[in-house]
Amino acid sequence: MSIEFSNQSLSKSISAAPSTGRGIVEAEVLVVFLTEGGVGSGGAKLADTAMNGLLSKLATSGEITGKRYECTTLLSPPGVPCQVVVVVGLGLRELLNVETLYKAAATASRMVAARPRGSVAFLAEASWTSAQVEQAVAGAAVGMVGQDLYRAEKKRNPFGKTIWLDAPMDAVQRGAIIADGVNLARRLVNMPPDVLYPESFAEEARVMAERTGVEIETWDEKKLLAERCRSLLAVGRGSAKASRLVILRYKPAGNRSPQPEFAIVGKGVTFDSGGLSLKPADSMLSMKCDMSGGAAAIAAIATIAALRLPIHVIAAVGMVENMTGSDAYRVGDVLIARSGTTIEVHNTDAEGRLVLADVLDVVKGLKPDAIVDAATLTGACVVALGNDVAGLFSNNQPWCDRVAAAARRMGEAVWQMPMYSDYDDQIKSDVADIKNVGDGRWGGAITAAKFLERFVGEIPWTHVDIAGPAFVEKPKPWTDGGGSGCMVRSFVEIARGS
Ligand code: BES
Ligand code: MN
Ligand code: ZN
Repeated sequence: MSIEFSNQSLSKSISAAPSTGRGIVEAEVLVVFLTEGGVGSGGAKLADTAMNGLLSKLATSGEITGKRYECTTLLSPPGVPCQVVVVVGLGLRELLNVETLYKAAATASRMVAARPRGSVAFLAEASWTSAQVEQAVAGAAVGMVGQDLYRAEKKRNPFGKTIWLDAPMDAVQRGAIIADGVNLARRLVNMPPDVLYPESFAEEARVMAERTGVEIETWDEKKLLAERCRSLLAVGRGSAKASRLVILRYKPAGNRSPQPEFAIVGKGVTFDSGGLSLKPADSMLSMKCDMSGGAAAIAAIATIAALRLPIHVIAAVGMVENMTGSDAYRVGDVLIARSGTTIEVHNTDAEGRLVLADVLDVVKGLKPDAIVDAATLTGACVVALGNDVAGLFSNNQPWCDRVAAAARRMGEAVWQMPMYSDYDDQIKSDVADIKNVGDGRWGGAITAAKFLERFVGEIPWTHVDIAGPAFVEKPKPWTDGGGSGCMVRSFVEIARGS
């Protein structure tokens, strides 16, 4: 059932198995989940029995607390056919949810993956819901993958084999597919900008599309010009690399909906130097992450297709590199966007909205019932919400609530920002319909969203500014630094409805 998105697909190495005999299979490492307040009656109890009560003794003596994400390594305990048992805390049983399981599994997995491992078994609990099993499986497979694509000595080593004990097979398979999606987005973000540029990014999308059966249409510069995408093209003009627009469509057999039920739009700036409004050198280092929204859109539709969700979805990604070449667009230029709206350029570093202006207009023409976009759009959003929280901006409260609810179910932090109508005045221009920045830097995340709103018409739309969470500057217990793969699980969750 599992479908490989790319050569790094891990889903084939993950399987489910019943716990045999005294409860444990042979594996190099066994991961046991423990809640606060002792071994209880589930998986931890099973492991405890196999270990002749070692676990409960450690818990009673307070050596192991079961506090959230606490990891303890036990060397070959008697009774268990494993070299190492890792006990990972889940916190209070009453508070157990999808987010905790995803992060706890990822934390254990990340620690275990510090060395090469042949096989790792995780002991699930019968009391977990299938959504919880899925996300635990996904977390474990995300945690074992790092950002060291080009390091000879790897910091993370994906396990040869992962075995989920006492977990329903179908939930394990779905979790593995979801992990492939998140890891695909992370890999794309982590690819250096000399390797991933618009053309090669589009090629990655093509490979994914072929493997998952998603339809793909790629617009090169000739087609982009014919389609009057001059706002998008202007941003790419200072680069030696040609721009692209990729449109993906997943329509499952039997789906009657002629129009897409929703569209995922992504900002795919493969490197953002700022253009002639050049960024300071320090702020440029992480700007390979400026295509994270595009990566999330591609990975989400890949996952939706691989899960065979019964929903008609499209994704569209504008792929450009923002550079300073001799033909670079200038401050003062007036661009005519595909929609006909004229835009005076006040800052070439506010390029994401110029790219999205045309992508949103193209998508609007495909008449989806709703649009969600993900973009590393503004530093101002990071000032407002910090590194871990994505900003939500919308023209339609019920649709925004759906996006927020899906993200909350997945434990991806989001917070809605106001689309204060007086701020519309801030993007007015003296020479054109609008300008590409607000008046001054205050409220910059909102004025950016106000700009995007001009291009979606009446379609319910929610913009997710992921400038903070897209790229992990400081590793956390459950994730290495680099691309986070944020919003992939949330977008898949939207497609699953409810
Ligand atoms: N890609 C940046 C935003 C960004 C900043 C992403 C930090 C990730 C981390 C975007 O293109 C940008 O440069 N925005 C400007 C807008 C300003 C010129 C109005 C910004 O935030 O400074
Ligand atoms: Mn920029
Ligand atoms: Zn940018």
